[in-house]
Amino acid sequence: MGMLKDKHVTLYVTGSIAAYKSALLTRLLIKAGAQVQVVMTAAATDFVTPLTFQTLSKRPVLTDLFTATEGDPIKHITVADWTDIALVAPATANILAKMAQGLADDAASSTLIATAAPKFVAPAMNKNMWANPATQRNVQQLRADGVLVIDPAEGFLAEGYSGSGRLAEPATIVAALEAYLQDHTPQPLRGKQVLVTAGGTREAIDPVRYVGNKSSGKMGYALARAARDLGAEVTLISSASLTTPHNVDLVPVVSAAEMETAVNTYFGASDITLMAAAVADFRPEAIVDHKIKKQDDTSTLDLHLVRTPDILAGLGKQKRADQFLLGFAAETNDLLQNVQKKLVAKGADMIVANDVSDTAIGFNSDANRVTLLKRDAEPEQLAMASKDEIAREILLRVCQQLHLA
Ligand code: C5P
Repeated sequence: MGMLKDKHVTLYVTGSIAAYKSALLTRLLIKAGAQVQVVMTAAATDFVTPLTFQTLSKRPVLTDLFTATEGDPIKHITVADWTDIALVAPATANILAKMAQGLADDAASSTLIATAAPKFVAPAMNKNMWANPATQRNVQQLRADGVLVIDPAEGFLAEGYSGSGRLAEPATIVAALEAYLQDHTPQPLRGKQVLVTAGGTREAIDPVRYVGNKSSGKMGYALARAARDLGAEVTLISSASLTTPHNVDLVPVVSAAEMETAVNTYFGASDITLMAAAVADFRPEAIVDHKIKKQDDTSTLDLHLVRTPDILAGLGKQKRADQFLLGFAAETNDLLQNVQKKLVAKGADMIVANDVSDTAIGFNSDANRVTLLKRDAEPEQLAMASKDEIAREILLRVCQQLHLA
């Protein structure tokens, strides 16, 4: 899941009645996070208009080679080079034959032959056309050339009878692309347990009030997703209310004390622990068991706060040599000096430092600029990027430290 995010998919629609299903396929690909460029054969445009696909994909559809596109005289090469995955769906007997022979006589076949990226075909045609030895020979040739074939299904055909040749369901096609990407993406964290904390804790004052902080939890969630995408089993202990990422085990908590209990439960089995939560440093000494009333005769309220346990420092003390521990540090001044001290004081292997005095980054923003501090190495500043990108970079550095390929 999630493997299609930001992937460039070029969808070739050829002239089969199943072309109408490619509109839904485009929607599903976009919903999965892909960018979709549609290329149509002339016959396909007799079934569905380019406008349908242009509207869904938010990109002009490539239909012919010779209508000059402004600023891009060799559009088919631009599209071919842009492509991460080429998908021909529906694929007619004709396009399969052309691909098998290497013909390039229109926009679709010319762009396909110029594409070095992996190619998928999802055939759709009359059952006799599919069963024809020439078609089967072409499909065999395509498989031998490394083209991935999403087999047509048995079922009701537009001709009014059942048979093999029906376009695979759009959801099946998307799942086939996801599975391929999953298998072909390096997963250095496969088999590793990753524990992530996220969100600002809330320390109750009374049943309706709490002491909290501005942390959104976005960085921790980005780390959980990035660790999952690199193959890890991820447990996310969170006090934030964001959408739980797929295939991540969520342990919801509220207060620092709850977070500490949960972290201690999972830490022993964890290979890599990423402490992105903004844990409150202080909590009200006692939680009042009823809503505190405002008294008309008093203009102040004293809250007596006591220290919470430093969860990270606690883990730093009990950590085994085979465990990797990463903390975060939000500082407003003397960033590197303070963080270097924190790295040692907390017994962490790496600290990600955020300058929270910079309003363009940090807490609730989607972008971040961080500096990584490691033991026995120079600090490394990462470029300003989205939290998802930063999370991936951080995890790749952790993999490097652990010599995971
Ligand atoms: O000391 P400071 O709060 O700046 O350290 C931040 C790091 O320590 C973060 O990784 C945070 O998750 C962790 N922390 C903790 N328990 C606390 C306070 C901070 O685990 N009580």
